[in-house]
Amino acid sequence: MNIQVRIKEIRTEFDSEFSACLSLEDFNNLQRKYLSRKGIVASLFKEIPKLSADEKRSAGKHLNVLRKSVEEKISEAIQSFQKKKKIDLSMDVSLPGTPEIYGNKHILSQVMDEINSIFNEIGFSVETGPEVETDFNNFSSLNFPENHPARDMQDTFFITKDVLLRTHTSSVQIRVMMDKEPPLRFISPGRVYRNEAINARSHCMFHQVEGLYVDKNVTFAELKGTVEYFCKRFFGKDVALRFRPSFFPFTEPSAEVDISCFLCGGSGCRVCKHTGWLEILGCGMVDPNVFKSVGFDPEKITGFAFGMGVERPAMLKYGITDIRMFWENDIRFLHQF
Ligand code: PHE
Repeated sequence: MNIQVRIKEIRTEFDSEFSACLSLEDFNNLQRKYLSRKGIVASLFKEIPKLSADEKRSAGKHLNVLRKSVEEKISEAIQSFQKKKKIDLSMDVSLPGTPEIYGNKHILSQVMDEINSIFNEIGFSVETGPEVETDFNNFSSLNFPENHPARDMQDTFFITKDVLLRTHTSSVQIRVMMDKEPPLRFISPGRVYRNEAINARSHCMFHQVEGLYVDKNVTFAELKGTVEYFCKRFFGKDVALRFRPSFFPFTEPSAEVDISCFLCGGSGCRVCKHTGWLEILGCGMVDPNVFKSVGFDPEKITGFAFGMGVERPAMLKYGITDIRMFWENDIRFLHQF
């Protein structure tokens, strides 16, 4: 048979055998079959001397091309197998996997979500305002006199004479009342700032949830009912409440609300300082001067407001003993909740 035809046939055979190889052993066998000293390619070369001078030149050329391409294909395949083998050897499939670490909501966000949802259920929407506030929204319009001690540099972080970091979320009351007409019923959760020394119990940055209800004929009884409903939902249905007369420039009358200590059941413990009560919240009926400052007629419009910290109830509920832990971003602390 013509040698050129043989070369072509062998090429086709090789290609189909090559694509049928599945293992390193298959490739090694193929290499032996085609490229060893007694292999197919060598046996073809042995036939060259029998050919005519013309045929010799062309057959030699084609055989070299065949040998080269067979060599390249096989050695490439073997190399890639060896590489894979190396990776396989370096991997111990019996070792346990690396666990994925999932984040979770910060405990303060969880507590605020819970507070929000309790109030949402009884018809309070959520309003927010900026942490950088005007003196007007934070103090003046809330009936703080010009020389009130809360305005002192010792208590408030001022940015300029009239701009400050809000000291309470009551500033959102003003923003919303300036913007909307009664009836209004909302809470406003958010971050507040006070120029206080940082220790286990107090921080210069914390959270509050404010509440405001403004309508005709709003009564103190409704305030009491709302606060009581919230406390029983949040702290447990067995807590008792105590309203103590208090003072805030923006409410009149004002009260502070204590709940019976749910840790000792009211008998007295370290957390409630042996009083049996925990102070939770400030509240009162909106002062007529506040309504005047936002352009509402205090003869027609009434309302109640309340404000509570978030950190303290969270600490009580979850037994957290140091307020600074909220800000340390220690994953061991955060992952507990
Ligand atoms: N703003 C008050 C505070 O920061 C809390 C409060 C809000 C009291 C609303 C009465 C009514 O302590």
